[in-house]
Amino acid sequence: MVNTISTYYPVAIEMNPDILKIENLVKSFNGNTVINGISLSIAQGELSAIIGPNGAGKTTTMLSIMGLNRPKSGTITYRGKDITGHAPFKIARAGIGFVPEDRRVFPDLTVLGNLDVGRRTPKNKSKKWTLERIYKLFPRLQEFSHRNAGTLSGGEQQMLTIAGTLMGNPDFLLLDEPSEGLAPIIVKVLGEFIEVIKQEGMTVLLSEQNTKFALKHADRAYIVDNGSIKFEGSIDELEQNAEIKKRYLAV
Ligand SMILES: Nc1ncnc2c1ncn2[C@@H]1O[C@H](COP(=O)(O)OP(=O)(O)O)[C@@H](O)[C@H]1O
Ligand SMILES: [Mg+2]
Repeated sequence: MVNTISTYYPVAIEMNPDILKIENLVKSFNGNTVINGISLSIAQGELSAIIGPNGAGKTTTMLSIMGLNRPKSGTITYRGKDITGHAPFKIARAGIGFVPEDRRVFPDLTVLGNLDVGRRTPKNKSKKWTLERIYKLFPRLQEFSHRNAGTLSGGEQQMLTIAGTLMGNPDFLLLDEPSEGLAPIIVKVLGEFIEVIKQEGMTVLLSEQNTKFALKHADRAYIVDNGSIKFEGSIDELEQNAEIKKRYLAV
């Protein structure tokens, strides 16, 4: 038998390397363990969803990634570099953008002012987010560019928070329960917009209680409850798992 080169050297080109890895994260508050050994791997260019009820540990996990709390144990690696417990500004500079669940805007600054605050040139050669691109994506923000952010609706403020984070040109975006408290029509706009940033190649970690919304946009899902992962897999794998669906997703 003739061995071809490929028999000897199997081609091992990794198409989607993991850019963020969490290993065995543990976090407690006053002796109460709220994250009990969570591990995640986020592949470049994918949208991974952390789905779980209120109090499951979604926000705490995101805050740990951003260096905004101190885990008891575990490691967080970004592009192969240990970032566990690093200063939040350094983690942001490394290319991770965070949209917190309480969607903070500067209410007394204009929309444009809010966008300017977050402006930063990209670390790598990825296509830069500019004001023009942001306005194209969110025409509303252009329309209201000179209005104070505090006068915008909740949905518009959510878009502004996301847009402001994009102005920092992250290459990995954390969205903590972005659909929460938004009217269905705005959730739809948010979803369209998530699809656009996905098409642009952005890697996203989305946390949601809104299962339907998360599953619609995710490539991969992690179901968390009580500080640990109950299921991990592709959306197809989840769709085929009747037991998990029934138990955790009420579908
Ligand atoms: N700063 C804190 N002090 C004490 N307990 C906290 C703190 N932050 C979160 N928790 C607790 O940790 C658990 C997980 O919270 P959180 O990560 O906010 O959940 P989720 O975002 O999934 O709703 C909850 O039981 C919450 O009460
Ligand atoms: Mg939360």
